[in-house]
Amino acid sequence: MKKILITGGAGFIGSHVVRRFVNHYPDYTIVNLDKLTYAGNLANLTDVENKPNYRFVKVDITDSIALNDLFYAENFDAVIHLAAESHVDRSISDPTAFVMTNVIGTVNLLNAAKDNWKGQYDQKRFYHISTDEVYGALGKEGMFVESTAYDPHSPYSASKASSDHFVRAYHDTYGLDCVISNCSNNYGSHHFPEKLIPLAINNIKNNKPVPVYGKGENVRDWLWVEDHARAIDVIFHKAETGETYNIGGHNEWKNIDLIHLLCSIMDKKLGRQEGESAKLITFVTDRAGHDLRYAIDSTKLQEKLGWIPSLQFEEGLEKTVDWYLENEEWLSNVTSGNYQSYYEKQYHTK
Ligand code: NAD
Ligand code: TYD
Repeated sequence: MKKILITGGAGFIGSHVVRRFVNHYPDYTIVNLDKLTYAGNLANLTDVENKPNYRFVKVDITDSIALNDLFYAENFDAVIHLAAESHVDRSISDPTAFVMTNVIGTVNLLNAAKDNWKGQYDQKRFYHISTDEVYGALGKEGMFVESTAYDPHSPYSASKASSDHFVRAYHDTYGLDCVISNCSNNYGSHHFPEKLIPLAINNIKNNKPVPVYGKGENVRDWLWVEDHARAIDVIFHKAETGETYNIGGHNEWKNIDLIHLLCSIMDKKLGRQEGESAKLITFVTDRAGHDLRYAIDSTKLQEKLGWIPSLQFEEGLEKTVDWYLENEEWLSNVTSGNYQSYYEKQYHTK
């Protein structure tokens, strides 16, 4: 019997983590805390919203008083912290929002845990979900390991790096039981279409240009989101206090190769001639400070905790495309309203 607070549970990865914990652990009570920003969507959780072991609370983690009241009232056993501003391009146009949520919000949560869990730190756990982007950019060779020095370049990765440092500081200074994991790029269902894969699926479907930054030479290491949620489950239950784990799929793709693969899957699914969707590929101005390559070495997680990725990328990408094509209403709901103005501003289109 555990009561777990999951923050950011209405977002992309958070909704998969909430779903996994609600379904796999009927004895646990899962409280999903989310501010419901543009990226938070309770429609991601309709299949679990009526389960007896699930509850939602609308709270902004920058509100330290609301957090403290919630911790006092609920006596959580653990926190799995995913709430964040998560999109690099938005961090370039509005860095302060990233400092507020990712840094101040994380410190507020740490304070709520530190103050409300006094005398019980050995029975509680604070699990912080982070990104491989804190390590900076790789050249053509090498991989990020847990001891790679932090070297963030974007306001997003700088804010996540800062939050990681605070989590470690609360472990070292106050003895809070803290664990961190740093994961590579995720893909799968319920992914907000500002990120590369769902944005490209949506544009290909609608015969709109598919914007590829620079020459499409940048490399990302893609992991299926349900494999990430399973890694989070394993780390939450098995990691030693104070430990960090890298999570990744050993699945590096150049953006342009990934987009060609996606176009060919979409040609088949939409009954188009091979090569038709690829005509939509449009090279656009590169992202400022664009990290060349990310690649994660997840040997520690595989050897110590026995996690391995389950799905080949081609299969996962096809499943993902199927989900977007079958969930037109979800896609049209999230791409109406504010999404249009974001898109026009980001991609200079009308
Ligand atoms: P997302 O943007 O889809 O979801 C973030 C969620 O946090 C949303 O539901 C949003 O409403 C909520 N949120 C934002 N600000 C909040 C605030 N002030 N108070 C309460 N809730 C707030 O993000 P995601 O892709 O699901 O990422 C989740 C976590 O995983 C983030 O911490 C991110 O840094 C990390 N991560 C993401 C990836 C990836 O590929 N997407 C990879 C590694 C790590
Ligand atoms: P993204 O999905 O934003 O994730 P991240 O920046 O966190 O890795 O971008 C993935 C890669 O795709 C990254 O190299 C930037 C690139 N990209 C494009 O080429 N075009 C786009 O429209 C977007 C959103 C991203």
